[in-house]
Amino acid sequence: MKIWVATEDIADGLAGLPGLECVVYDGTGPLPAGIDEVEVWVPPLVPAADTPGLMARMSALRLIQTVTAGVDPYRPYLADHVTLCNARGVHDAGTAEWAVGAMIAVLRDFPEFAAAQARGTWARHYTGVLADSTVLIVGYGSIGEALERRLSGFEVEIVRVARTARGDVHGQDELPDLLPDADVVVLLVPATADTAGMVDARFLARMKDGAVLVNAARGSVVDTDALLAELQKERLRAALDVTAPEPLPRDHPLWTAPGVFITPHVAGSTPASVRRTRKLIHDQIARYMSGEPLKNVITGLY
Ligand code: GLV
Repeated sequence: MKIWVATEDIADGLAGLPGLECVVYDGTGPLPAGIDEVEVWVPPLVPAADTPGLMARMSALRLIQTVTAGVDPYRPYLADHVTLCNARGVHDAGTAEWAVGAMIAVLRDFPEFAAAQARGTWARHYTGVLADSTVLIVGYGSIGEALERRLSGFEVEIVRVARTARGDVHGQDELPDLLPDADVVVLLVPATADTAGMVDARFLARMKDGAVLVNAARGSVVDTDALLAELQKERLRAALDVTAPEPLPRDHPLWTAPGVFITPHVAGSTPASVRRTRKLIHDQIARYMSGEPLKNVITGLY
């Protein structure tokens, strides 16, 4: 069975499985031969250029197993006979840890202190703090749970929101009432037709003065111009691991907007994710080859 995988490390992890012809394709450079024989594709973390075109040429394709939680680059182009599985769980630790670090960085003015350090300036001032604040997690799935576990020692109140209400998780329709009380709003929703532009001018207007928007989801979830307007008024602050457009062009006004801390979509790019990815792909391909049910199959809207 021919499988294309994103990294040498994933290929190494599969070495013990018999019957595999494993080819590493990291999404850059020349395309390996035999695209029409690829039965399983483990695409790269950063989607290959013309992913829909590649998928259309993979006539033998049966399974796409992503190394990401998000499946937005594949889902709209999926043929009926192809199963799509995501990497649920793999990036929980890295992304949750990034979100904690990013909200603290913004609240405690780390970017300003780093800039002052670069100038050799001892610039003392009071800052905000995470303690005693309310953190609203929008898109409460496995990353949200990991974030809540990590925040448990920070003396904050956590409010959970998912698409539909369940137990102590609020439904998305309650957001207008929940936003005004949140000091930090963390976005962890998947990119779907439902969430595109969800954080628009009205959403942002419901957030309290000085609140921090943390985006570890996708740039498309936020209306960039509406966010820029709030940042430029210095009414809201933001920590963004994802942006629209992405990568952010060099001259984009978001880079220099006040109160924004930007990282280049790296929340999950850590050795923890690499280790977990290797294991997930190994176990999933072993299941596929022995005909066992696959994990993390994407059905319905998500
Ligand atoms: C990263 O962005 C992911 O979707 O896992």
